[in-house]
Amino acid sequence: MNGPASIEVVRQHLIDPEICIRCNTCEETCPIDAITHDENNYVVRADICNGCMACVPPCPTGAIDNWRTVLRADAYSIDEQFTWDVLPEQNTMAVPPAEPALPAQGDSTDEADGIEVDTVRGAQVPPWSAAKPYVNLYTHASPTSATVVGNYRLTDASTSSDIHHIVLDFGAMPFPVLEGQSIGILPPGASADGRVHHARQYSIASPRDGERPGYNNVSLTVKRVARQHGDAVDGVCSNYLCDLKKGDTVSVIGPFGSTFLMPNHPNSHLLMICTGTGSAPMRAMTEYRRRKRLKGATGKLMLFFGARTKEELPYFGPLTNLPKDFIDTTLAFSRTAGQAKRYVQDAMRERAADVASLLKDDNTYIYVCGLKGMEDGVLQALREIAEQRQLDWDALWAKLKREGRLHLETY
Ligand code: A2P
Repeated sequence: MNGPASIEVVRQHLIDPEICIRCNTCEETCPIDAITHDENNYVVRADICNGCMACVPPCPTGAIDNWRTVLRADAYSIDEQFTWDVLPEQNTMAVPPAEPALPAQGDSTDEADGIEVDTVRGAQVPPWSAAKPYVNLYTHASPTSATVVGNYRLTDASTSSDIHHIVLDFGAMPFPVLEGQSIGILPPGASADGRVHHARQYSIASPRDGERPGYNNVSLTVKRVARQHGDAVDGVCSNYLCDLKKGDTVSVIGPFGSTFLMPNHPNSHLLMICTGTGSAPMRAMTEYRRRKRLKGATGKLMLFFGARTKEELPYFGPLTNLPKDFIDTTLAFSRTAGQAKRYVQDAMRERAADVASLLKDDNTYIYVCGLKGMEDGVLQALREIAEQRQLDWDALWAKLKREGRLHLETY
């Protein structure tokens, strides 16, 4: 005998395809692999998602925070979600009101079995003294336009790393940003199946008062991508950006990001660790501090920067010209002929005593940006450095996260 159709009601977690910038943060964050994607959309599997909310705070746009009350039997399949250009309306006729089934928002721990498993490695709150960021002023539905006022290759022409410094001017359109935030670029055209290209996210490399102080412009650090993780990729947006000429206009959305922000109290220390184009936010913060330098900023700046070779390190010239008493920089090159491979985490171990004294200081804020692969290596180096000096890393790590003092942005 057939039983009655299920009338169980669920709050289905969905991702808004109009706002999502496909940055993969949610998929990487989800502790139970409920999120997946195709070339079109990021989607959530209704049968796996437990509403733990771990993915919600890290999402730079808020696209992740969408919910529909549906009968369990009618939950949207991932195949259906892959085809969406907009989210479906909430159907108020079909289902009775649901009991809220979610844990408190912002709770990133999974306490289902009484075991507290912290699923997020970096802070989900900004430093206490960070300025208040604006986010999502411009969206896919209403982008703004910027004019290219500069596009320069940063890396030596003899190398295969083609990294550009691109300056975009917003003219009279408001586009307020803070160091550590990112913007989305909408490349023109469409993919082979006729769909318009999605926005690609880039960290801002200039400080809040403009690439040129007092101008309404921002700079980006963009690497032309032909291969990623060993596979050929189309690099639609990076090629588009690297080929732009002065006077061209681009469609921009954002700004995004409300946690990877710098502290504003002048005695705060910045410990910055980056590879390649992950240097963009570090340049922004460093430049902000440099401009403020004479106005009472006493905090230390320590930078570990990794690249294949000196010729492939963006901003090598300007960086090495900064005064030693302003920023303590250690470079790590992995492919210099005749030298052993050296990563940022190796350089950190060599400078363990100085890193440890920053770790002991409650005014230290740590920023890690660059290749995904370095995240484990850097966290492991921090653990070793802390433990060699009898600091309890697990306790310190939790404190750094709680206090908005450890920020990770890797890709
Ligand atoms: P590698 O020579 O092993 O590729 P890229 O130029 O690809 O953006 O990389 C920037 C730098 O980051 C390179 O020196 C690269 O070294 C290095 N790198 C690669 N993997 C890691 C890792 N797991 N930890 C730290 N640095 C890494």
